[in-house]
Amino acid sequence: MFDIHSHIIYHIDDGARDIEESVELIRSDTRQGVTDIIATPHYYVQYPTDPKRINEKLLDIKQAVSKEGIEVNLYTGNEVLYFDSMTERLKSGEILTLCGSKYTLIEFYPLESYTTIMKCIRNVRQAGYRPVIAHAERFKGLQDNGLSEVISQGAYIQLSTEPLTRRGLGAMLDRETVFVRNALKKRQGHFLGTDMHRTDTRPPKVEGALNWIQKNLDPEYAEKVLSGNARRIVEDVEIN
Ligand SMILES: [Fe+2]
Repeated sequence: MFDIHSHIIYHIDDGARDIEESVELIRSDTRQGVTDIIATPHYYVQYPTDPKRINEKLLDIKQAVSKEGIEVNLYTGNEVLYFDSMTERLKSGEILTLCGSKYTLIEFYPLESYTTIMKCIRNVRQAGYRPVIAHAERFKGLQDNGLSEVISQGAYIQLSTEPLTRRGLGAMLDRETVFVRNALKKRQGHFLGTDMHRTDTRPPKVEGALNWIQKNLDPEYAEKVLSGNARRIVEDVEIN
């Protein structure tokens, strides 16, 4: 699987606390079947990240994982909490796109209005970028309105693996789990991400999600959502 959403860069946001934790997160992710990970530190308008620092730290992490014999491809990006002028910062290179492509990972406040979500998609598209909505299951605006319209306006959808690992009656009643399962059954998800932060809080949860996908999705779509679509990010081409 290609994990397009993670907080594995240490000392940048509320993710990994040191390089050892970065390596542990990556080890756990790869043991569960992940081959590629995009590091997406939070970017807030009031707390911008420094792209140079992110790139330097990723180099250190790459060295550390290869020393440990962990096979994985690592890339950089940002997870941006949407703000109106974000496209200017994409253009100036202050915000890192996913793998240096035109794809940009965007989140909202959980209760953000659907109107703002739609405005975001239009703004980002008009500026020549491809918006990917991070953990789409979390937003009330999308729970209420569904995904068809945002997708038709040019948004791509990242769903989280963790809700797919929830089990039993609890999962059947759980809003996020139901949302992710339905989106995948309707083929509305384009990418998966763990959104892993730390080894004790929000570790990567992948294995159960892969089992669910194998049981419930047709193999051709499963391949796309697991990794085929994410390869289009690396190639920087549109997904059809
Ligand atoms: Fe995140």
